[in-house]
Amino acid sequence: MSAYDPIARLYDPWSASVVEDVSFYVEEALAAVAGSVAGQADEARPGNRAPGAPAGGLVVELGVGTGRIAIPTALAGVHVIGVDSSRRMLEVCAQRAREAGVESLLDLRLGDLRRPPVDERVLLVTCPFRAYLHLRDDAQRLQALRAARELLRPGGRLVFDVFAPSREDVEETDGRWLEREPGIFERADWDLEARRLTLSVRGPQGASRMTLWWLEPERWHALLVEAGFVVEGCYGWFDRSPYSGGEDTIWVARRD
Ligand SMILES: C[S@@+](CC[C@H](N)C(=O)[O-])C[C@H]1O[C@@H](n2cnc3c(N)ncnc32)[C@H](O)[C@@H]1O
Repeated sequence: MSAYDPIARLYDPWSASVVEDVSFYVEEALAAVAGSVAGQADEARPGNRAPGAPAGGLVVELGVGTGRIAIPTALAGVHVIGVDSSRRMLEVCAQRAREAGVESLLDLRLGDLRRPPVDERVLLVTCPFRAYLHLRDDAQRLQALRAARELLRPGGRLVFDVFAPSREDVEETDGRWLEREPGIFERADWDLEARRLTLSVRGPQGASRMTLWWLEPERWHALLVEAGFVVEGCYGWFDRSPYSGGEDTIWVARRD
């Protein structure tokens, strides 16, 4: 069972204030679709389009969750294959997609992002909101990054965000239950030596505890290169400002 299963109904109210990344990822998807539409003449040749791939373009989101990003992306007209290891999160995502009238644009697949059940080849793979931090070591990270690269057509991009905590963040939050949203409490237990965060959450719709492992940006850069990517950019925020030492990094990596 996934640690997200018990909080599938809590996830959206828990992350209600996380909105800054949505337009960023929607823009990335629209740009990728524009690229594939521009290449449509090539795609239209027999055998050139991946089986089942829509002519207008398709993106893959790894760790799609409840569709916080995928549903706005679909509402913008982009087809999304969403992979997640939590059956319950996918159920919420499917319900939200029906309510938004975009179920035909979302193809939800239960699976592990290290071995995504995706045969299609696309111009954009995303892994938003720190989902890669659930990978515990470099072997798992490399497996995931290589798997993402395999999904990309030449010239396609992997875009994802991760974080590494600041000392102030650790000091302010360590071991304390904090009310993140009304009635929803979150507790962070930081192990600086192991670079491991145990994150607990409880609220009216459920409770869970999950583990995240962080890395310094230099390590993410090195892993991306080792996985065969060309690192095109590293932003420090979703407004595309360059990384300059904060907690968040947003990576754009290309398959040549
Ligand atoms: C922080 S949530 C992000 C959800 C969504 N992308 C968003 O931006 O709101 C992380 C998601 O990654 C999924 N996840 C974690 N580890 C995974 C794995 N190994 N394979 C597939 N999904 C995974 C979780 O089930 C969860 O839905």
